[in-house]
Amino acid sequence: MPTILHQSNLPELTLLHRGKVRDVYALSPEELLIVASDRLSAFDVVLPDPIPGKGEILTQLSNFWFAKTAALMPNHLTGKPVAPVLPAGVEAGLYAKRSVIARRLKPLPVEAIARGYLIGSGWKDYQAGGTVCGIRLPAGLRQADRLPEPIFTPSTKAKLGDHDENVSFDHIVATIGADLAEQVRAATLNLYRYAAAYAAERGIVIADTKFEFGTDAEGRLFVMDEMLTPDSSRFWPADQYQPGSSPPSYDKQYVRDYLETLDWNKRAPGPILPRAIIEGTAARYAEALQKLAGVVLD
Ligand SMILES: Nc1ncnc2c1ncn2[C@@H]1O[C@H](COP(=O)(O)OP(=O)(O)O)[C@@H](O)[C@H]1O
Ligand SMILES: [Mg+2]
Repeated sequence: MPTILHQSNLPELTLLHRGKVRDVYALSPEELLIVASDRLSAFDVVLPDPIPGKGEILTQLSNFWFAKTAALMPNHLTGKPVAPVLPAGVEAGLYAKRSVIARRLKPLPVEAIARGYLIGSGWKDYQAGGTVCGIRLPAGLRQADRLPEPIFTPSTKAKLGDHDENVSFDHIVATIGADLAEQVRAATLNLYRYAAAYAAERGIVIADTKFEFGTDAEGRLFVMDEMLTPDSSRFWPADQYQPGSSPPSYDKQYVRDYLETLDWNKRAPGPILPRAIIEGTAARYAEALQKLAGVVLD
């Protein structure tokens, strides 16, 4: 049985941040304890129901990718075990598979997105003007079409309650400087290409994905947060992929599609989910972990 955790509770540690999904604690000036909860956010609203085991799946899948891509790009994991830093009396089993000790970095204010296919906001922007983040694409592409080359389509991190906004590469240069911007673009595309090729052999199309990067005190770049999970990516079953419509997926699209059937204004509080939708979502996340990393959590 997966553990269920909607909100972490580690009273002796300093809570720095409760994100939509992760709770972040300071262990020292150099290290963080990051706990992935079972919270599910859709349309940037955290829903009231946890998805049992989701935080464990996200953490295990991220850890898998961080390890696989370590030679391509340094990442925030320290590899240190979590149990020794948990306060006395805390049930270690609840935190074991959903937490990591990470290097404490300075987050760059950029959502580093790579797209290999035309879907979501990319498809919307393309329909409106033939470009995505200022990159002109060939005419006549259909929804979900594969792009001639993967593209870097950054967005700005929105303030709470707002939605992220697609921006041009020049905007990123203006924000973080040309040198870091080039490094982020190259790392994003390298990681995406590597992961997309790997996933393709396992029957999954990674349509797009978002990375977060941070710098250490020396200004070196690391990939951080989570990596290539169903929360940060669109995963499509390759055998059902067909351009011209939005493919079924192993990611949040399943919940989003359900939510679109409701009369909900997409503002907090979010609606209660039916049991079947909770279970269907949990099953899709588990399937992504199994297909990509070969891991089945008990
Ligand atoms: N190694 C790290 N150093 C500093 N901050 C980090 C690191 N890894 C992740 N973070 C930050 O921790 C937070 C994780 O919480 P999450 O629920 O994913 O947030 P969000 O609601 O912004 O998606 C994010 O703000 C992310 O930028
Ligand atoms: Mg996040």
